[in-house]
Amino acid sequence: MKTIIFLCLLNYALGDLYPNNNVCPTILDYNTIYVNDRCWYDPDVTASVPEIISNHGLSSTSYNVTTWDGYTIEIFRIISPFTTTKGSILFFPGLSRDCRSFLLQGANSSAIYYANKGWDVWLGNLRGSEYSSNIHFTKDDDAFWNYSFHEMGTIDMPSQVDKIVEITQNTSDIYIIGHTMGNTVSFVYCSTNVSHCQKNVKGIIALAPTANMFMIKSPLIYLILNLKGVPKISTDFFEICQNAPGIGLCDVGFQTILGPSNPNPFPQMLPIFTHTGNGALVTKVINHYAQIINGLGKFRWYDYGFLENLSRYGTSDPPFYVTLKIPVHTTLISANNDFIAVEPDIEVLYSLLEPTKRTWFKVPENSAPDMLISHLDFVIGADVPRQQIYSKINAALGDE
Ligand SMILES: *[C@@H]1O[C@H](CO)[C@@H](O)[C@H](O)[C@H]1NC(C)=O
Ligand SMILES: *[C@@H]1O[C@H](CO)[C@@H](O)[C@H](O)[C@H]1NC(C)=O
Ligand SMILES: *[C@@H]1O[C@H](CO)[C@@H](O)[C@H](O)[C@H]1NC(C)=O
Ligand SMILES: *[C@@H]1O[C@H](CO)[C@@H](O)[C@H](O)[C@H]1NC(C)=O
Ligand SMILES: *[C@@H]1O[C@H](CO)[C@@H](O)[C@H](O)[C@H]1NC(C)=O
Ligand SMILES: *[C@@H]1O[C@H](CO)[C@@H](O)[C@H](O)[C@H]1NC(C)=O
Repeated sequence: MKTIIFLCLLNYALGDLYPNNNVCPTILDYNTIYVNDRCWYDPDVTASVPEIISNHGLSSTSYNVTTWDGYTIEIFRIISPFTTTKGSILFFPGLSRDCRSFLLQGANSSAIYYANKGWDVWLGNLRGSEYSSNIHFTKDDDAFWNYSFHEMGTIDMPSQVDKIVEITQNTSDIYIIGHTMGNTVSFVYCSTNVSHCQKNVKGIIALAPTANMFMIKSPLIYLILNLKGVPKISTDFFEICQNAPGIGLCDVGFQTILGPSNPNPFPQMLPIFTHTGNGALVTKVINHYAQIINGLGKFRWYDYGFLENLSRYGTSDPPFYVTLKIPVHTTLISANNDFIAVEPDIEVLYSLLEPTKRTWFKVPENSAPDMLISHLDFVIGADVPRQQIYSKINAALGDE
């Protein structure tokens, strides 16, 4: 405490010694960030996708994919430092996030790690993110936000797969790695467009998979079940998470909602996680999850109500996403303290995958009994949990 007061006084006396600092190792350090030599400047915090990639010694190209229903989505490819690659990996982020999810850990992030390991890395995006627009509507129009993960899985994902195949001329060579909603989207894609998935996809690797959601432990559920009337909720309020004093509140808040992590990555990761890569939370997406939770975990198409269900689906109940039909090997990777993708729900999902085409890994391994791995550790986790997660992904890729 005395040190903090002293440093604050010193700060007043001398001005900021490190005016560009934006990351500190502990929450307490943020109180003195501009005079604290334990803090540092991380250029990735404010960077775009190509900038982050080049900050870590690689370069990238991008492509705009336009869907038949009018969305244009920009996707990125890391230019491989190798002349031949081990095949393609296409990453898809979670709820309201763009593909920067897979770049949050700099040189150790999954996108950079797998590019340096010899894979042809593609970073996919979904409608609604900063890297999307619409031919007919702007983001101020309610109609822009009129979609669920159903449209992402039936339209956005196959369109991006088609683009990759067009560029690489390689079919059945793409592993899809998703985080949380990114997996809901690949399950929708591969269960509704089975032949397209079979032809082009080699396997699905699902980090913190969400599908048959029911036993969710997160208090977020109360928000989820009460959203009405607005097309989306902005996440601009995350700004308070970038520095003291708000950052302490966000540390506690995120761990309460997602499940506590040990070791806790939030103090160092909150600035980058909350500064870039967050789009709005889309009401229809959240309502679709709420319908699944209210429906005791039945993974089904969007429920439009009795009459519209009848005219859209020919039945009063929305159809199921039949995950048994997913034609490629699916690897589920779950974490022991994830409050969103919880083990009993993943057990249901696992039981509804074709028995010869499924694997389920849990992290951490028993050797690390004190370690708590939670929902976001898949993209922001500290060293040891990250290594455990990568070793499971490597096993799924056959690249150990
Ligand atoms: C894709 O579209 C966006 C928005 O119009 C634009 O900023 C970007 O440069 C385009 N990228 C490519 C590769 O054409
Ligand atoms: C196609 O994929 C194989 C690996 O599965 C790789 O060796 C080859 O370089 C790829 N070809 C192209 C044109 O990317
Ligand atoms: C990457 O991870 C290693 C240990 O696994 C660590 O020593 C290093 O500091 C990390 N680098 C970055 C940029 O986070
Ligand atoms: C959303 O799309 C449905 C058709 O899928 C349409 O009936 C409805 O009017 C649309 N709502 C808005 C706000 O565009
Ligand atoms: C599968 O995806 C392709 C590419 O987007 C699309 O042309 C085709 O209509 C889809 N098929 C089904 C059954 O959804
Ligand atoms: C479609 O709409 C109804 C009405 O909300 C909903 O309860 C149901 O689950 C779906 N089918 C029904 C109800 O018959």
